Amino acid sequence: MSEIPASERLTAGLTPERLVFVQEKYNTARSRTIALIARMLRSYLRPYLWLLGFSILLNVIIAATTGALPWFIQQAVDEVFNNKNPNMLVLVPVGVVAISLLKGIATYGSNVIMNFVGQRSTANLQRDLFARLVHGDLAYVAQQHSGAYISIFMNDATRLRATVSNIIIALIRHLLTVIALIAFMFTINWHLALVYTVIVVPMGVAAMRRLGRVTRSASRQGLQETGEFSTLIAETLSGLRIVKAYGQENDQIDRASTTIDRVLEFTMRAVRARAAASPAIEALGGIAVGAIIFIGGYQSMQGNLTAGEFMGFITALLAVYQPLRSVANMQTVLQEGVAAGRRVFSILDARDRILDAENAHSLTAHQGAVLFDNVSFQYEGREHPALNQVSIEVKPGQTVALVGASGSGKSTLLNLTLRFFDVSDGRIEIDGQDIRHVTLDSLRRATALVTQDPFLFDDTVGNNIAYGTPGADAADIERAAKLAAAHDFISELPEGYETRVGESGLRLSGGQKQRIAIARAMLKDAPILLLDEATSALDTASEQKVQAALNELMQGRTSLVIAHRLSTIMHADCIYVMQEGQVVESGTHSDLLDAKGVYADLYHKQFENEEG
Ligand SMILES: Nc1ncnc2c1ncn2[C@@H]1O[C@H](COP(=O)(O)OP(=O)(O)OP(=O)(O)O)[C@@H](O)[C@H]1O
Ligand SMILES: [Mg+2]
Repeated sequence: MSEIPASERLTAGLTPERLVFVQEKYNTARSRTIALIARMLRSYLRPYLWLLGFSILLNVIIAATTGALPWFIQQAVDEVFNNKNPNMLVLVPVGVVAISLLKGIATYGSNVIMNFVGQRSTANLQRDLFARLVHGDLAYVAQQHSGAYISIFMNDATRLRATVSNIIIALIRHLLTVIALIAFMFTINWHLALVYTVIVVPMGVAAMRRLGRVTRSASRQGLQETGEFSTLIAETLSGLRIVKAYGQENDQIDRASTTIDRVLEFTMRAVRARAAASPAIEALGGIAVGAIIFIGGYQSMQGNLTAGEFMGFITALLAVYQPLRSVANMQTVLQEGVAAGRRVFSILDARDRILDAENAHSLTAHQGAVLFDNVSFQYEGREHPALNQVSIEVKPGQTVALVGASGSGKSTLLNLTLRFFDVSDGRIEIDGQDIRHVTLDSLRRATALVTQDPFLFDDTVGNNIAYGTPGADAADIERAAKLAAAHDFISELPEGYETRVGESGLRLSGGQKQRIAIARAMLKDAPILLLDEATSALDTASEQKVQAALNELMQGRTSLVIAHRLSTIMHADCIYVMQEGQVVESGTHSDLLDAKGVYADLYHKQFENEEG
């Protein structure tokens, strides 16, 4: 890939967004296509090279048998019909049957192998894509809607496979067949062969190139729109209650229709380009046949061409259409694959920023002291920092609470502790080790997170609790559920711990989900607990139960707790009050009440509300 020189960039007045666009045009289509195919071969087809080699052999057989047919026709006319040769009367039919059989077997074998290789390599590609997504930085993955990813996984990856198998078949089988047939034409009569190759082949190639360009752009846009459609489906399904509650059904349908129409439009544009390819070749073929009859007839009148040779030639000419068409179509098929491949590889090529440092060591978190030392952080694309020089110290085993208005940066602090993002400035230490110098794996093993909106996987209750603790047995799971005040309601579910919950399973209330999430954290048994409004979804009665459970959980662990309801954190060892990304007050509950500052205000307001 060549880069646009800086000087040109400046004179053209290119903004970064425009630059990407122009850069795409600047890199020639050809070099990108070749690079993409080479990459596909290198990374996904290499393990199957010996199979591909075998398939190549089969395709050589297919090409050779196809190339042999016109010769048999020539023999049939000249030797059997004209010369009445009795040997040939037997040999020619037997030969035709034999090569047809051979061709059938070879075609079957080659198709099965090519499809197997194609499916296998798509499977590997999809696995890599998936791993890429799971490992990807949160900030990167969040850039696209989940629907768009699903579309890339399903449509683009499949399209890429079809392209790779088609290209290989076209390149080997059809190209070889074309070469064999044209070579045969030359052995019969080079005048005729020359006329044919000069008329048909170059014109065909020129026509295909133009059509290839149309297909590529239509395919790219088509895939993009398919991605949007799948985003719309995912969004509508997850927000169906809101769609209905706000009476937006028809509006959603309109949006879907627009997207579907656009997919159709681009698909049709590609279809038309592809469909134009065959008639173009056929029309050119008609010209060729006419010319051959004229020239061949003239030569036969001169005594330079036998009837058998003429028939053989015409047979070769008719047999060459189909493979020639495939070779000509290769360009368009290829362009569809290139459009898909670029989308797939753009995901595979994304660079992560949150990685293990080079000499990262395993975190040794015995006590679980957490220190935020002058931490500042700004989300990408945001104007104001979410955190501004925050310093917080959590001593081993302490419970430290974070309170403050919505958007003041509380959850951001937890995100940074888990290294979902890296601090822009300052540092975070656990037991004296900068978290950027330890492995991500060990960091995340040392911490248990309960989020604001608890997430359950589409699995059984038991497996949801055991998520992140692979070795847990039924007794462990039940113990954790009891501690999280979840055992009672779980026992009443239709199949107890075996009940499926999540997307396609049973719906649980917000508080029930929350308690399952707490049980998950209990079972994980990590030295550092991060609780983001763990009791926010609960009513007062279950809040008390869960609070008791949490107090149990926090015993002997270092806990960083975010709470809106101040009653739940009154007993914290230290409370930090945040405002617009800064710590404005800190101290124990009674210290802060005495100080009559932000916290005291907040507390009195809540107290009045709850009283009144
Ligand atoms: N992923 C993100 N990308 C960009 N900005 C974000 C992201 N997450 C949070 N922010 C912004 O950072 C600021 C702090 O958000 P944060 O989630 O830390 O607030 P919070 O104190 O947890 O609020 P709440 O009490 O409502 O949960 C907000 O202005 C928010 O809009
Ligand atoms: Mg929050």
